[in-house]
Amino acid sequence: MVKRVGILGIGTYLPENVVTNHDLAEKLNTSDEWIRSRTGILERRNAPIEMLTSEMATEAGKIAIRDAGLSPKDIGMILVATVTPDYAFPSVASVVQERLGIPSGTPAMDISAACSGFVYGMVTAMHFIQAGSYPYVLVIGAEKFSSIIDWADRSTAVLFGDGAGAIVLGCVYEDRGIISFELGADGARGKHLLADPMVSMSGREVFKFAVRQMPLTVESVVQKAGLKNEDIDFLIPHQANTRIIETARERLALPEEKVSVTVNRYGNTSAASIPLSLAYEIQQGTINDNDIVVLVGFGAGLTWGAVCLRWGK
Ligand code: COA
Repeated sequence: MVKRVGILGIGTYLPENVVTNHDLAEKLNTSDEWIRSRTGILERRNAPIEMLTSEMATEAGKIAIRDAGLSPKDIGMILVATVTPDYAFPSVASVVQERLGIPSGTPAMDISAACSGFVYGMVTAMHFIQAGSYPYVLVIGAEKFSSIIDWADRSTAVLFGDGAGAIVLGCVYEDRGIISFELGADGARGKHLLADPMVSMSGREVFKFAVRQMPLTVESVVQKAGLKNEDIDFLIPHQANTRIIETARERLALPEEKVSVTVNRYGNTSAASIPLSLAYEIQQGTINDNDIVVLVGFGAGLTWGAVCLRWGK
């Protein structure tokens, strides 16, 4: 029987500096009312200029390893989902290896799939664990979008935030853990959301893609798990915009209390948004042992991805 892989520990890092919509309205031709009504975002965190993505990733990773009851030497592989690495190379994952004291020789690489990156990382880790290559894989989503935002472009500057979230994946008890996954990309539509090096976006196109693709991906991953939409106990969507989440929630016919919303407090943190939301919900006590939890991401590429898992170790 294939080994089931699940989440053994989780950790997050959020920069202290809270930037409100009012703060942005002082610098840009925008308003709290516009941002709130179009995106649902009330505030976001911005890292200090000198703070690197790897520093946020390291802090989140350290907590996740501790939460899993492990030590850095137990980690067999490090995957960091990010599109805002410290440098083109070395990878953030390599920097994290050194900073966390994970032994030299442990494989480390970054995954570039933007807001779907964390799910891509989870699925990659799952396969290495199931193959018996490594017992424990550290998967981190970490972003510093404040460094690639054109602060003069109000249509993108208001959307993004900085932060990091990490999990340790390993084998779990029988029916717990990841049941199914779904990954996809459509390079032909990549032009709608790109960074070269600053973010530029066709907001309408990305919005249309997201409201269509997110429910399709969720339905597909749930079907692959042999379940139905109504079996979902909790949905953790990538946090880009409350209108996108709300439209998808309605299409999936899920009640509000089963869908995580943290974009109001953190903005869109790209690869970090899913682990940040997951950690928030765990802290709130919303996710219980044996729950069917679906994580779903979508973003630049264009890419999408989801995992359906049964919560618990
Ligand atoms: N403050 C005030 N006005 C703004 C603004 C801001 N921050 N940003 C844009 N506007 C203006 C535009 O200039 C435009 O003005 P105009 O009609 O005079 O030309 C007007 O608001 C409408 O712009 P539009 O882009 O059509 O708004 P929208 O309703 O599509 O909302 C987004 C814009 C970006 C919020 C929306 O398209 C969206 O959420 N897209 C998805 C983005 C996303 O999630 N990306 C990441 C995916 S991982």
